[in-house]
Amino acid sequence: MITVVGSLNMDLVVQTAHIPRVGETVLARDLRYVEGGKGANQTVAAARLGGEVSMIGAVGKDDMGDRLIEALKKDKVDVSGIKRSSEASGMALITVDAHGNNAITVISGANHDLSLQDLNRHEDKIANSSIVLAQLECPLDLVTEAMFLAKKHGCISVLNPAPAQPLPKDLLDLIDILTPNETELQILSGLPTDTLQECQTAGEKLMASGIKSLIVTLGAKGCYYMDSKESIFYPSYEVKMTDSTAAGDCFNGALVAALSRGDSLADAIDFAMKASAISVTRPGAQPSIPALEDMEGFDLWYEERRLDK
Ligand code: RIB
Repeated sequence: MITVVGSLNMDLVVQTAHIPRVGETVLARDLRYVEGGKGANQTVAAARLGGEVSMIGAVGKDDMGDRLIEALKKDKVDVSGIKRSSEASGMALITVDAHGNNAITVISGANHDLSLQDLNRHEDKIANSSIVLAQLECPLDLVTEAMFLAKKHGCISVLNPAPAQPLPKDLLDLIDILTPNETELQILSGLPTDTLQECQTAGEKLMASGIKSLIVTLGAKGCYYMDSKESIFYPSYEVKMTDSTAAGDCFNGALVAALSRGDSLADAIDFAMKASAISVTRPGAQPSIPALEDMEGFDLWYEERRLDK
């Protein structure tokens, strides 16, 4: 089993020609409400791609909270660890431009009302899991406790450090696999990450402070795996992007789904790259995440869309 500790948000999504600059007004045709939140997106990806998943998180006692929970139930997620808070459900304001790039502002709401007591009440879920996955849209002490409980119960601990913030050493020491993108790696390490060589140096600095292994996602370029013995670059399955929202979440969820069924790390990374390639061709957060059936036809699907042919 996989336990995800993290956020649930209702995404308010607008499509514009470009992301507005400071002081600029841009026009969008409509507003869409889409189920999202990094924690919930990663949960859906792990479940839709074959994992048995429970989620620990919080939503408000509002209609959006109902909808966010119902969405997870459709993917057969165990939602008994999701608290109904007196705070409003988390929301995210998302602008997607004509190239599929986005800008996101998260309104934390109930996600910041998830307490250590709430987490500890569901320790049994972690005890019954082989992998625990978290992100940084919930309070940092809670994330640290989730990673601590993961290690206490012999699970693989995976942290997607998004949105990035400097992390204390006591948290870094608890992480088996850290999955930053290059911007997050730059914030975490304080070093530039514009080239592979720079990512390697920044990654080495993080590993010196306790991380056992690192997967740096590099968007359309691919990803970079590092541990104390080796570093491997995995080129991406490059396709035309419609919307990059939740591509990283899809990667993380797919990664833990593959690891939980016993795939090697290399196979799990390849599986996650394929899943996120599909997700960027579809709009929205949770609706963009592929199912196992989509993955079975991946080679043919990719052959028709690959950008390098
Ligand atoms: O990673 C994408 C997600 O970030 C969105 O679904 C939004 O809710 C924010 O959490």
